[in-house]
Amino acid sequence: MRYPRQATISASSLCYNPFRSTATKNLMERKIIAFRQDPRREWIAVLECGHTQHVRHNPPYQERAWVLTAEGRQNFIGVPIECGECHLTIRHAEPRDFYFVTTVINDWWEGRNMRDMLPKLFFTHFRDTSFIVQEQSNIVGFLNGFFSQTFPDEAYIHFVGVHPAFRKHGAARMLYEKFFEVARANGKKIVRCVTSPVNKTSIAFHQRMGFEIEAGDVEVDGISAHTNYDGKGESRVLFFKSL
Ligand SMILES: CC(C)(COP(=O)(O)OP(=O)(O)OC[C@H]1O[C@@H](n2cnc3c(N)ncnc32)[C@H](O)[C@@H]1OP(=O)(O)O)[C@@H](O)C(=O)NCCC(=O)NCCS
Ligand SMILES: [Zn+2]
Repeated sequence: MRYPRQATISASSLCYNPFRSTATKNLMERKIIAFRQDPRREWIAVLECGHTQHVRHNPPYQERAWVLTAEGRQNFIGVPIECGECHLTIRHAEPRDFYFVTTVINDWWEGRNMRDMLPKLFFTHFRDTSFIVQEQSNIVGFLNGFFSQTFPDEAYIHFVGVHPAFRKHGAARMLYEKFFEVARANGKKIVRCVTSPVNKTSIAFHQRMGFEIEAGDVEVDGISAHTNYDGKGESRVLFFKSL
């Protein structure tokens, strides 16, 4: 399987992008057409392709003082930057995808044993609500979800995973937004999922995606969790999001 070279800085120095390779150079550059703020008042560049990219000023990690002024932002209107999402395509999951996912899932979860929690049935019986994200012909992420059989207005995301070299570039956001779109189209009003209190990345990701946390009986590092939710010793953080 081919993966792109390790990250380089894009020409505009606006963003770090692991997708850049000689073959794709310039092909995925999209002009900035506008800026807007997210609910946390952080700046987002809107690109001509319709995709968006955060352009944060977050020193010392991200130095972009220019984004804080109207004049600074105006200077970047029309400037092309690489769009991570234009590299990626989404499709429904297929039973054959199981054989790939099952070989990488433990590595993608940093060696934790997750394989047994994602059997083939999710790729066979939940295809309409499960998705694969690809960069060219390479699978770089997956989402397995379903609609609740018991609660007609609820949908549930069981698993999401992105190849470590492709993280922080919107792949999981694309998968979630696709799932939300399908859920909304089917009249669902709430999406739920759970994660382990040790999975700080997952907690941060779900909070960024607008999920709220259901109050539990214990606090782990300031996050409310439900003790023994999935059996003895298996505490969980419970997320929900209104669509
Ligand atoms: C969690 C995971 C799926 C996120 O995938 P990703 O493609 O890197 O996420 P995205 O780039 O789409 O990020 C979406 C938002 O979450 C935020 N986010 C993602 N990873 C984050 C992290 N480690 N810390 C803080 N925020 C994070 C991003 O900044 C982004 O927010 P923004 O759009 O407001 O900037 C990925 O890290 C992963 O596969 N982890 C291992 C598997 C796992 O734990 N899955 C979840 C439990 S089932
Ligand atoms: Zn794009």
